[in-house]
Amino acid sequence: MKKLEWWKRAVFYQICPRSFADSNGDGIGDLKGIIQHLDYLQDLGIDAVWMTPHYPSPFLDFGYDVSDYLSVAPEYGNLEDFKRLLSEVHSRGLYLIIDFVLNHTSDKHSWFVESRSSLINPKRDWYIWRNGRNNEPPNNWYSWFGGPAWEFDPFTRQYYYHFFMKQQPDLNWRNPEVKQAMIDTMRYWLEIGVDGFRLDAIGMVYEDSKLTNQESGMSQLGLYQLSRRAKTGHQRRVAARISNKMFRYQMDLPDNHGLMRELRNVVDEYPNKVLVGETELMNYYGLDNDEIHLIFNFPLMRLIKLTPSSIRQNQYRRLKQLPNDAWPCNTLGNHDTSRILNRYGYGNNHCAMGRLFLALLLTLPGTPFLYYGEEIGMMDISIDNVKNIFDEIALWTYRMEVEELGNSEGEALKSALIAARDKSRNPMQWDNSINGGFCPPHAKPWLPIHPNHFNGVNVDEQTKDPQSLLNSYRLLIRIRKKNPALINGDFRIIKSPKGCLAFFREVPGKKYKYLIVLNMGKITNTYKLPHSYEMNETIYSANIKEERNKESDVIHLAPYGIYIGLIRRSR
Ligand code: NOJ
Ligand code: CA
Repeated sequence: MKKLEWWKRAVFYQICPRSFADSNGDGIGDLKGIIQHLDYLQDLGIDAVWMTPHYPSPFLDFGYDVSDYLSVAPEYGNLEDFKRLLSEVHSRGLYLIIDFVLNHTSDKHSWFVESRSSLINPKRDWYIWRNGRNNEPPNNWYSWFGGPAWEFDPFTRQYYYHFFMKQQPDLNWRNPEVKQAMIDTMRYWLEIGVDGFRLDAIGMVYEDSKLTNQESGMSQLGLYQLSRRAKTGHQRRVAARISNKMFRYQMDLPDNHGLMRELRNVVDEYPNKVLVGETELMNYYGLDNDEIHLIFNFPLMRLIKLTPSSIRQNQYRRLKQLPNDAWPCNTLGNHDTSRILNRYGYGNNHCAMGRLFLALLLTLPGTPFLYYGEEIGMMDISIDNVKNIFDEIALWTYRMEVEELGNSEGEALKSALIAARDKSRNPMQWDNSINGGFCPPHAKPWLPIHPNHFNGVNVDEQTKDPQSLLNSYRLLIRIRKKNPALINGDFRIIKSPKGCLAFFREVPGKKYKYLIVLNMGKITNTYKLPHSYEMNETIYSANIKEERNKESDVIHLAPYGIYIGLIRRSR
């Protein structure tokens, strides 16, 4: 096999530093805590870590409101800790990519503090400042997190633009000094030795310079109500279309691509670095694969139901759109969604389901991204009071429900919780002690620990149980590594009984091909091998029974059954 770049072979694992492990007992995860668990990650078998923002931040948006790009949040440690983390990662043969927030800074960043200080400050133009129109904002754009995209600053009597929270002013990338300062920041981390970046919100970097009014014909509150009521695929598509229209001048403008090419050129000056883009749009790979290396298949993660037909459709679409030589990238969860088992799990067979979702992710074509804690079946925490919600999207929803729609606080909390991203940002569960080994028993964890850590959802107990989900993760990740065709083999979906997804991964000219059959349904299914094939070797299986026959081999798959095996032509 042609040697693939490391990021094509790698299994990535996303860590949120605040929630992984607290080494000093303040209830907040930190870099030393991560270092203490690197052996765990190595043993799990993952190859690369993506760490969400580690920079100083007021933390109004989970660290995506950066107040200094060149250092480390004091609650996480300092630059020396970061360098130690990186060298410990590298000494284990692993890779580390960091988050880079391009579109906006925190309003506490010194650049913005200067910019807002006067109309003639040299950094005034580093952000997007405009005059209002008759005491109204410069245009009718909305913020993605709710409300107008413009904030009036009484001191200089102008408005500044923010796609996200008002505490996250957008940088003005059309100013060459801004571009230079941000590129210098990238180089700073590249020189320290990071292996790449996950680029945040790349679609939002540029906005229409003429500030053209959007013509969605609907208010943001109206769109919120419409989306909430949308039950069918058609209704959801209508809401999505209106949303696209609403944000049309603020998202995915052609200007972004030139910038991505520039950033790619910077990164390419250093060997073996990778850019991962927070977008699902394939055009960010670039016309000639000259923009971003990996683009997330978010439509897979957003499937309302994970069924064979929805996955098939997703794969057909994605792979058809994939530019030549571009490499796919799949994930089923991150810090912006509910955890996998909350979205796709049902009943109490979580171990079998978690295993099935992993088998899917590790055998589909593309680099898989795992989310911390999913390997032990962690689930969303429940929140019972609006005071315990940090996420601005949820807080906006709450305010709208109470203030604009006149709903009760209970109703509003229910709706806010659907949106609240805090639920899945919960502390990692290392053992079954009070606070789950995330922080000492006497400390107060920054978010509650899910009580299921007392009932087996923790690393310690699952390590000792050969049948645990954690041990399935260890095994399946190793199997993927030992069988490169699962990484680079051609992918072909084949016919299978309803409820099952079956596909080949094959290397042309090889005698054997990999057959993967996943029973995603609630009932037992029987898969019959294509007539001209026979089973040769089972590589991995769970909840199945094989039956070799003269006529044709069959596999009986109980619910969530998994078969990964080698087959060959028999006649
Ligand atoms: C995308 C990040 O994943 C999300 O958590 C954040 O709120 C926005 N970008 C804004 O930075
Ligand atoms: Ca700490």
